[in-house]
Amino acid sequence: MRKFKVFLFIIYLPIFIFELIIFKLFTIKNSSVSYQSMINYFIITRGWSNAIIHFFLKKNLLKKNKFDLQINKLKKNGYLIKKNFFTKKLVLDLKKSLKKIDGYWIGDKYKSKSKEKLYKKVKAAKFFYTDDDLLKLKPVQEILSNDYLFNIASKYLDAEPILYNINCWYNFPTKLPDKEAAQLWHFDMDRPKWLKIFIYLSDCNINNGPHCFVQGTHLNGSISREILNLGYMRIQDKIVNRFYKTKIKEFNFNEGDLLFEDSRGLHKGKKVTSKNRLMFQIEFTSSLFGNKYNIPSIKKRDCTNNFYKKVTSKRYNYQGIKII
Ligand SMILES: [Fe+2]
Repeated sequence: MRKFKVFLFIIYLPIFIFELIIFKLFTIKNSSVSYQSMINYFIITRGWSNAIIHFFLKKNLLKKNKFDLQINKLKKNGYLIKKNFFTKKLVLDLKKSLKKIDGYWIGDKYKSKSKEKLYKKVKAAKFFYTDDDLLKLKPVQEILSNDYLFNIASKYLDAEPILYNINCWYNFPTKLPDKEAAQLWHFDMDRPKWLKIFIYLSDCNINNGPHCFVQGTHLNGSISREILNLGYMRIQDKIVNRFYKTKIKEFNFNEGDLLFEDSRGLHKGKKVTSKNRLMFQIEFTSSLFGNKYNIPSIKKRDCTNNFYKKVTSKRYNYQGIKII
């Protein structure tokens, strides 16, 4: 298997380099072949290839970053926690506004074919809203306008951050951990480098799907060869326990808390055993090279003044959102 991957590495390398260059020069989106190659290179080089791609594609900051203890911690551990970041009022407003929109059930046993209302009957492990619908909500626009989040992302990425991937979903109890709902160990690999921000909209403890992360596994060379050789797939608990038992972090949160995480490291959301969990999540990346993505659009009349000003004045940072 490894030899086959190295063979593919050599075959696709010219295409990959060509697509990297035209992405950098003309922002021409890469093919899925190059995206698959990026994953292969990550596995073969244990992450070093991503560092090179990130370095090549990122847009440098005008000012150099000063020393920042919390950013150093984030760089070393792969995560950073901010308690009570968003006010109870904002969380409540967001929850209220979610009631106005419909979403999709997704799970190993059931998937919605069209939008459904969130009724009491639980049909799957996860119920999510689309980014287009979320974008229209004023509390969402307030979160997406927050300068502090951009600031942390720019310091972590050491680059101009691009906001994209706006998600919000409920998790509900299931008998078994759900693959579709990312309840088994895995690493994300959509871009060369990124930072995820989990915004807790409900209190979360051992009963309703605590998030787990293996400290330090976001660093180059830190995921064991044995795990990487399994490929880009879900990983069983016993394997992760064998390699990283003492490094597994399990987090409890209250609504309004934030978790910054480089989800290149091994992570999972544990299954919910009682009640439910509501999560809002955004991502900052140094480049949109990699996997396909959706750019949600919003009409000018649906934007708050502040949000409209931000999005239109910082087009590079907000290129993951379109105003029509
Ligand atoms: Fe993930």
